[in-house]
Amino acid sequence: MKKNSDLTLSAISADLKKHRTDALVVAARQTAEGPQLLGSPLSAVDAQALEASFRSLGVAGKADDVHRLPSLESMDADILIVAGVGRINGEHDDELLRRAAGSVTRQVTGVEKITFAFPADTVSAAAAIAEGAALGAYSFDKYRSEAKRAEAANETTLREVVVATSASTDKALKTALQEVAVVARHVHEVRDLVNTPSNDLYPETFAQHAGDASGSLSVSVEVYDDARLTKEGFGGLMGVGRGSARPPRLVKVSYNPRGKHQHIAIVGKGITFDTGGISLKPALNMDQMKSDMAGAATALHTVLALAELKAPVRATAWLCLAENMPGGNATRPGDVITMFGGKTVEVLNTDAEGRLVMADGLAVASLEEPDVLLDIATLTGAQLVALGRRTAGIMGDPTVRDGLFHTAEALGETAWPMPLPEELRASIASQVADLANIGERNGGMMTAAVFLEEFVGEARGSKIPWAHIDIAGPSYNDAAPYGYTGKNGTGALLRTLVAYARNLGSKN
Ligand code: BES
Ligand code: MN
Ligand code: ZN
Repeated sequence: MKKNSDLTLSAISADLKKHRTDALVVAARQTAEGPQLLGSPLSAVDAQALEASFRSLGVAGKADDVHRLPSLESMDADILIVAGVGRINGEHDDELLRRAAGSVTRQVTGVEKITFAFPADTVSAAAAIAEGAALGAYSFDKYRSEAKRAEAANETTLREVVVATSASTDKALKTALQEVAVVARHVHEVRDLVNTPSNDLYPETFAQHAGDASGSLSVSVEVYDDARLTKEGFGGLMGVGRGSARPPRLVKVSYNPRGKHQHIAIVGKGITFDTGGISLKPALNMDQMKSDMAGAATALHTVLALAELKAPVRATAWLCLAENMPGGNATRPGDVITMFGGKTVEVLNTDAEGRLVMADGLAVASLEEPDVLLDIATLTGAQLVALGRRTAGIMGDPTVRDGLFHTAEALGETAWPMPLPEELRASIASQVADLANIGERNGGMMTAAVFLEEFVGEARGSKIPWAHIDIAGPSYNDAAPYGYTGKNGTGALLRTLVAYARNLGSKN
């Protein structure tokens, strides 16, 4: 199935009488007694026959199990799909439904209209199914040759997702489905940016994308070019980008709706390619470093989604864009650079570049005295060591950190709060400058966060409430696809940031 740009999401009543569709999807769950069909609209005879054949068909009800079967007597569809939902038991069920729906749209081709007859008694369950289906329906084939693309264009593409639910007449569901469509589209935009190779996506073209994508929305986009960055003292961005023929950019994207609202600022790491610089990375998997701009892509599309949803919150994204290359003009280990705001940093490892560009971003974002300051970055390999591939690390002010964590948990996004141990601060001391850009290796994700904290400013006499999100692992899936998450760019944490910002706005 292809992009969901013109995917329609709708709901119908759960009995599904006279409902014509291309594919009807029912759910099977895992139980101690074996796989079990979950409240399907099939006749008792059909349901019984189907369940009786589960064993021989190999239907186990496990997550990501997707079986295509011929249509049955009591349904009006070309095919029946049985999707595993795992061990549904009442807790985190929405996410199990979201993943099962996504696994179906990710794996099934040749279908235009698909109807999910999953157990969905609430608006949130029905919206989760639609969301999973929309998130799963993604592909990235811009870089296939003409012939390949023509082949793909001839494939039937998914256009219509229908969710059968007893909440179908609830007005809140209609709104929820519209919002789901907007957010899923922005997740796809993040994935596109992450998947775009660095010969096409570099600071200048990323900044252009920010302008283009803002198009009809009521946001303003301001691009700081390298001349301005030099003049105004953005030593972190310039220090990292100076080895590249493609100069850095800082992009400010502001959504400022009428009226008085809470203000959230989100700084994003936008290293369009990270070679490590003079502290060069090994060749193995270096190609994946085209994804080192996932934070900036997420910050940008969070603000654009908020604008599109007309959320009652002021939101500003700061995209710190640079390409980290070795070159005759590149920053060397031992060089001292002066950051935006005047602090000096001794660059002991040019591969710890993310924190340098983010420091400039945090410092300039702080000048506007936002109510909450977030940053999101593919900052450390240590994040993968600490929390694995899929779980983002959240650090910083306990209130903001835990608020983000609970928001993520409610949406099925995996993240975990991590501390900022005070002893790490001493490890980033420098012999010659205010700070060094590397320190204690153990707990390196937190060492990086402690460095960033130094650049968070004050507002109204106290430190701005701040949290840092490390998405090094979760932003890019180089392992097997699962649920609504395919290979490569994932768009992870965008849904969390949008929900967190909306919730912050509603507090005013
Ligand atoms: N972009 C990398 C972090 C990264 C690693 C992201 C793997 C995604 C997957 C970052 O710029 C980096 O190189 N960090 C160094 C820091 C070290 C030199 C202190 C790292 O993690 O090795
Ligand atoms: Mn690096
Ligand atoms: Zn990096």
